[in-house]
Amino acid sequence: MPKLGVNIDHVATLRQARREFDPDPVEAAEICEQAGADSIVCHLREDRRHIQDKDLKALRRVVKTRLNLEMSLNQEITKIAIRLRPDQATLVPERRQEVTTEGGLDVVKYSRRIQKIFDDLHEAGIELSLFIDPVKEQIDQSAVLGIRMVEFHTGNYANAKTKVAKDRELRRLRGMTRYAQESGLIVNAGHGLKYDDTRPVAEIEGIEELNIGHSIISRAVFVGLERAVKEMAAVVKI
Ligand code: PXP
Repeated sequence: MPKLGVNIDHVATLRQARREFDPDPVEAAEICEQAGADSIVCHLREDRRHIQDKDLKALRRVVKTRLNLEMSLNQEITKIAIRLRPDQATLVPERRQEVTTEGGLDVVKYSRRIQKIFDDLHEAGIELSLFIDPVKEQIDQSAVLGIRMVEFHTGNYANAKTKVAKDRELRRLRGMTRYAQESGLIVNAGHGLKYDDTRPVAEIEGIEELNIGHSIISRAVFVGLERAVKEMAAVVKI
């Protein structure tokens, strides 16, 4: 049964629209945990467009499950991570102009930088995951670096416009999960997953955790956060 990690960045995005106090992503994290989230995910972006440093500090104090910090290959953010000690960090690619994370990290291209961050975080006792596309080359290189955990980018699956394309992406996720497991990796997945297309991914044998944000926070606008998380937990935890 996969776990559910809830990404609360979108709560902070709403707050930042006014740059005031609410809605508070820290309060959101507490509600998510009470509603069945197994971890809280947040992304401290270089441009601080949603989560702020003070949020991360407060989240570290408040989160009782696991705090998973998404971060780019950035020295300043690495230092913050080492200071605040999230349970886990997930390295993601980051571009200023993007609306959201657009694809997996290129582990082959950025191998040396990833290795350095991996060593620094490992020394601080922070578990590292790499957000990658479900392709052999990226999985192989993650294993070569000694990384124990990856998160497959499910954007291509989530955005597929036809049933044929969606099935093809699902087969890819299934095959690459098996391949990554055989390479000794723990496999998580996420990005763009919705209430009506998450179940087939949750059913893939070997996927340990799904990280979901936008669809949950969107639904929460209409039904409240507690119910939105419970509904997604019911989809994920088969
Ligand atoms: N996993 C990673 C690595 C992400 O960057 C994001 C988006 O911040 C998510 C999961 C969640 O994606 P979504 O908000 O589309 O559910």
